[in-house]
Amino acid sequence: MQVYGLLGNPVGHSLSPRIHQAAYREFGMDACYATFEPEPADLEAAIEGARALGIRGLNVTIPFKRDAISFVELDELADRIGAVNTIDFDGDRPTGHNTDAIGARRALEHHDVTLDGARAVLVGAGGAGRAIAFALSDAGATVNIANRTESRARNLATEVPNATGHGLSDLTDLLTNAEVLVNATSVGMDEDDSPVPAETLHRDLTVMDIVYHPLRTRLLRDAADRDATTIDGGWMLLYQAVAAFERWTGQEAPVDAMNDALRAEIE
Ligand code: ATR
Repeated sequence: MQVYGLLGNPVGHSLSPRIHQAAYREFGMDACYATFEPEPADLEAAIEGARALGIRGLNVTIPFKRDAISFVELDELADRIGAVNTIDFDGDRPTGHNTDAIGARRALEHHDVTLDGARAVLVGAGGAGRAIAFALSDAGATVNIANRTESRARNLATEVPNATGHGLSDLTDLLTNAEVLVNATSVGMDEDDSPVPAETLHRDLTVMDIVYHPLRTRLLRDAADRDATTIDGGWMLLYQAVAAFERWTGQEAPVDAMNDALRAEIE
């Protein structure tokens, strides 16, 4: 049996097992996806142990995404982002990848959003914001990063090509001419709040939220009220798993089956 899994702490509420197992079922694979909660001090031993046991691939989540970079060979994107959410054991040394960034881009592309030449506004400059900033920039967008702590946005913008850093008070101006808005903050998670004033949203915007609990966040409801296109947080979650599956197996993922499994849990 091929074994895959997730390293994090806590991982009890993760949807990844269901999404990946749906893919194994769809393809009739003799595979399973388990969750592991090592102590932070044991991260290196956990990764080395997984390699020794013949585990094929691991996802990595909070709080290990940054620390894991020390124990794997990074691909170019993960190296720039400075965080890993996918480890591939198919080789001499485990390799680290960042399918959060790939997932964000594929979620937007799935909805026919053209990023090349687009003006994008990214709210949030934490771990998720960082991955998405590189993804948008790599796809050819101009990335205006707005964050509650402005210095964090400015610092991130110095690392990302074609990016600028701002405080949240600049959002009104930034959104006037933007085509894409991504919320990469935790605002809206289990609360009816939005990081973006509703009156700044407009019909020429595509608005993607990374928050998926609830699925229809206040931001997305405000956006829909103003006839903007909306992409809920399930899509990035789906496509980071799709990209991890494809990295590990070399096969095109059964996206619909994975999406059905995900939606069965979060809708
Ligand atoms: P993650 O890895 O999920 O991105 P993080 O690194 O803690 O988590 O980042 C959380 C992001 O949400 C940050 O951009 C944070 O803004 P600050 O850098 O100013 O802390 C943002 N955030 C969290 N709560 C917020 C709030 N109430 N209003 C605005 N932004 C908030």
